[in-house]
Amino acid sequence: MKIVLVAGARPNFIKIAPLMKELRGRDAFDVRLVHTGQHYDERMSRLFFEELEIPRPDVDLGVGSASHAVQTAEVMKRFEPILQSETPDAVVVVGDVNSTLACTLTAAKMNIPVAHVEAGLRSFDRTMPEEINRILTDAISTWLFVSERSGLENLRRDGIPEERIHFVGNVMIDTLEQHRATSERSKILQGLELQGSDYAVLTLHRPASVDDPTVLSGLMAAVGRISKELPVVFPVHPRTAAILRGGGPHGTAGSGDGLRLVDPLGYLDFLKLLSNARFVMTDSGGIQEETTVLGVPCLTLRTSTERPATISEGTNQLVGLDPDHIVATAMDVFRRPKSPRKIPEFWDGRASRRIADILEHA
Ligand code: UD1
Ligand code: UDP
Repeated sequence: MKIVLVAGARPNFIKIAPLMKELRGRDAFDVRLVHTGQHYDERMSRLFFEELEIPRPDVDLGVGSASHAVQTAEVMKRFEPILQSETPDAVVVVGDVNSTLACTLTAAKMNIPVAHVEAGLRSFDRTMPEEINRILTDAISTWLFVSERSGLENLRRDGIPEERIHFVGNVMIDTLEQHRATSERSKILQGLELQGSDYAVLTLHRPASVDDPTVLSGLMAAVGRISKELPVVFPVHPRTAAILRGGGPHGTAGSGDGLRLVDPLGYLDFLKLLSNARFVMTDSGGIQEETTVLGVPCLTLRTSTERPATISEGTNQLVGLDPDHIVATAMDVFRRPKSPRKIPEFWDGRASRRIADILEHA
């Protein structure tokens, strides 16, 4: 089976690493890796290929940043000739970024079956670009590989035929399990002069949190207040960095002595930082899942989540965007002892193996 595997953005690289290893390790598959170039900074792309030992992409489409329509269209224009020359039996896409939808649409129109890894997640908030990408990708994919039980219900409700739906677990957790021991050796805590676990981690990059100056100043003011109680390490996503550089509410953020803005971190350093944190504040999808498995409390600074298992079984709380509520919840979590957690079903490090088994027997 000839497969074209697609990745474009940071979370995609983390998800394809174990898939690539599993598929390339089996004689049944001939795999070509395509990087769309949606993310391109050294610290958003190449670093992950090195640390996670992902082979060099066979093709780099080099699309870069643009508006949604231009970026999606550019990926499609550049991906179509690759499919024409490679004539694969299947295209495998992961996650919910613009590259995911663009490559799915291109392949489906050429009658090439698509496998969607991380299918069925729904925030039910169509103002999120990812929600549009999820709904459309799932609608035209042939194999829907689901990471948590809510995905099964969502796909059934959308009328997806049962034989297309496969509950396989979470490939992001495969990566976490494969790199946990190595990440222990990271020197990031010493590098940031952090003592013990008395620090928090913050990440923010969603349009709903960072694009509106009023929302972002509220969030940064809340973080400023929290950082008076314990250090807060904030690896800044380039989207957010561009806004802060452009005169965003950086000043407010600086008011807390303990707020530490750093460049985006590599996977191993970031995993070490997450694992040892007192709690994490984030709008990221993947980090809600990783904190659940690590047993680290996660405060999700959003009004919805497409990953409800991280709340019902894991360590996640939906805190919303109100600054006073964020500070009160953070202080509560800081003072409370950690509570026991459950690991969601099939988040066991073997999701890629299940996916490869299904594709091999298709
Ligand atoms: C994208 C995904 C989002 C995912 C996130 C992971 C879409 C619609 N969004 O959001 O779902 O959670 O990636 O990180 O696909 N930039 C750089 N260097 C880079 C990449 C981006 O400077 O290597 C800056 C550019 O100013 C760019 C902006 O970040 O305009 C946004 O990048 P883009 O890929 O469009 O969206 P993300 O916000 O990264
Ligand atoms: N991550 C990382 N370095 C950072 C921030 C995040 O390696 O500085 C990892 C994180 O552990 C997770 C993934 O990036 O595996 C999440 O990516 P992101 O938050 O950009 O995207 P999302 O999951 O929200 O789509």
